[in-house]
Amino acid sequence: MTTPAQDKLRVGILGAGGIARAHAIGWTAHPERAEIVAFADIDTERAQQMSDTWTGGKALAFGTGEAMLAEAEIDVVDICLPHHLHTDAIIAAANAGKAVLCEKPLCTTLADAARIRDVVRETGVVFMGAHNQLFQPSLLEARRLMAGGFLGTPYLLRSIETFQSRTWQQFGNGAGTQRDWGWRSDVRQTGGGELIDTGYHGTYRLLSLAGSRPVEVTAVLSRFFQQGLSTEDTAMVIVRFESGAVGEILTSWALDVVGNKHFEVQGELGALSGGPVSVEHQLYGWEDSATKRFEPVHTFTLEIGHFIDVVRGDAPNPSDIDETARTLQVIKAAYLSADLGRTVQLPEDPTQPATVDGASAATPTGVTVSDDSKA
Ligand SMILES: NC(=O)c1ccc[n+]([C@@H]2O[C@H](COP(=O)([O-])OP(=O)(O)OC[C@H]3O[C@@H](n4cnc5c(N)ncnc54)[C@H](O)[C@@H]3O)[C@@H](O)[C@H]2O)c1
Repeated sequence: MTTPAQDKLRVGILGAGGIARAHAIGWTAHPERAEIVAFADIDTERAQQMSDTWTGGKALAFGTGEAMLAEAEIDVVDICLPHHLHTDAIIAAANAGKAVLCEKPLCTTLADAARIRDVVRETGVVFMGAHNQLFQPSLLEARRLMAGGFLGTPYLLRSIETFQSRTWQQFGNGAGTQRDWGWRSDVRQTGGGELIDTGYHGTYRLLSLAGSRPVEVTAVLSRFFQQGLSTEDTAMVIVRFESGAVGEILTSWALDVVGNKHFEVQGELGALSGGPVSVEHQLYGWEDSATKRFEPVHTFTLEIGHFIDVVRGDAPNPSDIDETARTLQVIKAAYLSADLGRTVQLPEDPTQPATVDGASAATPTGVTVSDDSKA
C-alpha cells in the first residue's frame, strides 16, 4: 500500500536505537501528514520507551519486525537497524506492500543489493535510501549553481565527511569515555568500517555533485586513531566519472578538516566549496569569493518530509534503489581497490561488483613517462 487513502501515512519504525530518535524527530515534525503508530526493537523496553517519548505511549511496541508487520496497520517501514539486518527487513516490508525508508548503508553486499532491487521492482513499493545529507541547503544550492552552468564543466570534486570521535556517546547508548563499538566492531554486521558507515554520506554526496556514472575507483584505507577497530577509521577514495571529472571522498573517525567543509568543486569557470551552513564560490577573475549562508536545518526532518512527498507521488526520489546501490557499489569497489592495491573498474549495473580486468572508459588513467634521462 504505497499511496494510502487516509490523510496520514502510518509509520512503523524498526530499530529503536540512536538514529531512530533522529527519525522520530523527523516524523513528528510532520503531524498533518504522518504518524508513528509502531516501534519494533529486539529490546522491547526500548521500543516502548520510544513510544512513550514520541507518541505518549500511543504507538504499539513490538519485539520483532515480523510481529510489527503482522499486527500493526502501517503504510511505511522506517528501517533503523544495524547494517546486516537491512536486507531481510527491506524484503519483508516490500513483500508486505509497505513503502520503505532505510538507513544507510542499503545493505552489506552487492548480491543482497541485487536481491533487494528485484523485490522492490516486483512489488512496486516505494524505496528510498535515508540519505539525509542530500537535504543540506548548501549542497542543494551548489547543485543548483552547477546545473545552471555556473562552473562550466566540473573537473575536480571533493566530498568530506569527517569527525574525530573521542567521546563515543554519539552512537548507541554507551556511557563513559571509552567507546563500546557494539555491533560496529563486527565486520560481519557492518560490512566494512568507517567508509561503509559514516563514509556512506561522503559517497552519495560526491555522486550527487558529479551527476555522472562512476567508472573507476582507487582507494587507500588507514587506521590512524581508533585502535579499537579492526577496520579502517579513515578512507581516501578517488573516483573517476564517465564525464571525465575526478572525485575524491575523504572520510574519517580519526580527524577533522578546518572549517567543517563538506564539499569542493573546481570547474572550467570557477570553484565552490560548502559546509553545513554556507556555500562559497569564486569564478576565475573575481578578486574575492562570495558566500551565501543558511540557517542550520535538521536534515532528517527534511528527508522525511521529502519521503512523504515521494510516497504520495509528489516528488522525485533522490535515492531510489539504483542510486542507493550505486553508493554501495563505489564503497565496495573502494574496499576491493585498497585490498588489491590497484585501481578497479565499475560495471554499469550498480548491483554488480567492480572488476579488475580492464582500462576504464575513455578517460586517461596514466601517461607513460620514461625514467631514463637519455630516452
Ligand atoms: N544518517 C546518519 O547520520 C546515521 C547516524 C547513525 C546511524 N545511522 C545508521 O542507522 C542504523 C542504526 O544505527 P544506530 O546508530 O541507531 O544503532 P544502534 O545500535 O543505536 O540501534 C540499533 C537498534 O536496533 C536494535 N536491534 C538489533 N537487532 C535487532 C533485531 N533483530 N530486531 C529488531 N531490533 C534490533 C537494537 O536493539 C538497537 O536498539 C545503521 O544503519 C547506521 O549506519 C545513520
